[in-house]
Amino acid sequence: MKPIEYEGDKSRIYSTAGTGETMAEIMARRFSRRSVLASSTVGAAAALLGAKDASAQSTPVAATPGATPVGTPGATPVAGATFRFSSLALQGGDTPIVPEGYSVVPFLRWGDPLFTDSPAFDPAAQSAASQARQIGYNCDYIGWISLPIGTDSSDNGLLVFNHEYTNPELMFAGYLTANPEYDAADEESPEFLANPTQEIVDTELEAHGLSIVEVKRDESGAWAVVLDSEYNRRISATTPMTLTGPVAGSELAKTTADSTGTEVIGTLNNCAGGTTPWGTVVSGEENFNQYFANLEAIPADSPVRAIHERYGLPDGASDRQWETFHPRFDLAQEPNEPIRFGWGVEIDPFDPTSTPKKRTALGRNKHEGHTSVVSPGGNVVIYSGDDERFEYAYKFVTAGAFDEANREANLDLLDEGTLYVAKFNEDGSGEWLPLIQGEGGLDDAVGFASQADVLVNPRAASDVLGATKMDRPEDFETNPVTRKVYLVCTNNSNRAVEDNPGTDAANPRPENRSGHIIEITETDDDHASTTFEWDIFLLAGDPADESTYFAGFPKDNVSPIASPDNITFDALGNIWISTDGLPNTFEEANDGLFVAVTEGEDRGNLQQFFSGVVGGECSGPVFNPDNTALFASVQHPGEGGRVEDPVTLWPDGEGVTRPTIVLITKDDGGPIGQ
Ligand code: FEO
Ligand code: CA
Ligand code: CA
Repeated sequence: MKPIEYEGDKSRIYSTAGTGETMAEIMARRFSRRSVLASSTVGAAAALLGAKDASAQSTPVAATPGATPVGTPGATPVAGATFRFSSLALQGGDTPIVPEGYSVVPFLRWGDPLFTDSPAFDPAAQSAASQARQIGYNCDYIGWISLPIGTDSSDNGLLVFNHEYTNPELMFAGYLTANPEYDAADEESPEFLANPTQEIVDTELEAHGLSIVEVKRDESGAWAVVLDSEYNRRISATTPMTLTGPVAGSELAKTTADSTGTEVIGTLNNCAGGTTPWGTVVSGEENFNQYFANLEAIPADSPVRAIHERYGLPDGASDRQWETFHPRFDLAQEPNEPIRFGWGVEIDPFDPTSTPKKRTALGRNKHEGHTSVVSPGGNVVIYSGDDERFEYAYKFVTAGAFDEANREANLDLLDEGTLYVAKFNEDGSGEWLPLIQGEGGLDDAVGFASQADVLVNPRAASDVLGATKMDRPEDFETNPVTRKVYLVCTNNSNRAVEDNPGTDAANPRPENRSGHIIEITETDDDHASTTFEWDIFLLAGDPADESTYFAGFPKDNVSPIASPDNITFDALGNIWISTDGLPNTFEEANDGLFVAVTEGEDRGNLQQFFSGVVGGECSGPVFNPDNTALFASVQHPGEGGRVEDPVTLWPDGEGVTRPTIVLITKDDGGPIGQ
């Protein structure tokens, strides 16, 4: 399909009707106490980029030659971070696009081998056994950990990446069949019916989870998977795991198969994740609710029913129908099984025999984020969003300190500490409210008799504390150069709609279709602090729409963007933003990857670097340490189609479409974006 040029369709301009205030007025009020938008800064940036047309390709986006790093961790940022490449226009189609001078290749596809004995991918004959030896489906998070351990090698490392969910209609021929009773005039009438079998469901279980693969770059610059690496491993929805921390062993965590309340089978719906300073990965279990069925079978006065209702478990059959083949997904038989999902799962990639640990001290929700940072006092701080409309943003601060000299001493640090939820005040200040049983009204009278009760339902506890309900908080991480923290809110079209919560300073747009990013500065640059200041960094959308905001950068010089989702940072402190749902704002355009300057005179300059594949979100961007390789996932390409009626056959051009991690490099071998 021919790429389409973005032409800035004015009919897509976002309406601020109903607020009684224009977005310009909201932002002016919001920023009146700050000097970050000093007109001299904006003027200088505008002059630099005055000739640029955001809709044109092959236009250099930064005129500052020789970009220099903006500082070292903890240091005061210095103006000058920027990037140089030819910005893309929004486009559709099924060919991934990168700027001139760069290359993008499919690197790790669903079904690819990660062991020397992995069976060849055969979409017509996938089985649970073959899938267990192959790369899983729909990667959301990618982490890079250098090899050997403790080094910052850029040529050799482990990619630890997860497999959020399966699209059986794109994986298995015959999964969907025509509904004989389909009524086109009836919106409730499905055109197709699902036909899962035991083998299909068991294959799906093995396609979930995570993969760990060693990758290596040779002297010619070519990257490859090391198939005989001792580290390569598949973790799936059938891998034994241990529940650790305050919820382990509690009554709510016990099931027929596990009277100890500590031994869980598998991990599900792993979305954004993060690495720890000791070289483990924490992967977030997100929409675990979709795997369970028959909530209506649990008595209305059962405490666990109220918990499940808050997390959106279905009343009757699940869409996936796994409960038909595995009773643990049937709430009528196992009402507590879902309590064992919705956690941050810590995996030690350096010990392939290690049992993954579900760290309950981090709280249970639809987890995102989990990137960590060490505070000046040595505590490790993990930020995490709960990705649902009107849910909350959290951070966890370990009780113990990180020990750089003794890796073993850190391996259970995440079992003890304090979980906080964010409250954003109108004046740009903020508070981290501790979720501690017995404090702030979190007591027996409102259903919190123990810390375990708080941690299995931090949503309800955060309601009690009066935390701020956010617009789908997703990735949440620290800029390693400036130590500022960025919270990505993907979107929330229900904001201020009907009975839903109205706008607030941190979620300022009604019907927030395009999402935003908040920038947090912890007090004294201490990530363990209980107070912070915050700004809006980005209000995404069509730059021609008056409700958008690009950290004060002139809007006629930026790329359109919508539904920011995952972020990472380059060595200069620029923020790289992948999107999930951009086509909801810009029809016919694909999700992609964008970069924005966070400091200095180009702050807020945002440009598109990568355009993905029809039907697929872009997720998990991560660089190797010297930024010469960029890995990003094209998740669920072709969503909306079926095996029998595909929207795309990318990347192979035959068979079935395959979710794929792509590898992006600069043709001269240099650092990406510079
Ligand atoms: Fe799996 Fe919130 O995205
Ligand atoms: Ca996501
Ligand atoms: Ca990230």
